Amino acid sequence: MLNRIYHLGYAVEDIEVASRFYEKNFGAAPGVPEVVAEQGIVATMFRVGESRIELVQPTRPDSPVGKFLANRGEGFHHVAFEVEDLSLTLAELKRNGVELIDEEPRKGAGGTRVAFVHPRGAFGVLTELVELPHA
Ligand code: CO
Repeated sequence: MLNRIYHLGYAVEDIEVASRFYEKNFGAAPGVPEVVAEQGIVATMFRVGESRIELVQPTRPDSPVGKFLANRGEGFHHVAFEVEDLSLTLAELKRNGVELIDEEPRKGAGGTRVAFVHPRGAFGVLTELVELPHA
């Protein structure tokens, strides 16, 4: 059901500062920061082999990532797994009684469809499921 770890999400205060850190010290070539208005974030990705690091900065303090930063500060925020069929995956999880934040897919960065599993239902780790756009 899970194809791979698609990315690890880090909550950061300043996406420009964080991007420069990874560029300077790890030779990263981050993508263009993309605003995802629905989630109240601006995010940028850089590749690490088959996976990515996603830097996430809130665009408003009352967004989920804004609240996370206020409560816990910068740091690891979520793991994202790539799935083949997000709607099917969510239906299975729902049937199994897993606690979901999103019962239906929503729009993610880069034309993806995403949904979050509540950390309470996933051993304390906020878990994102990502379906890539199909060619
Ligand atoms: Co993510």
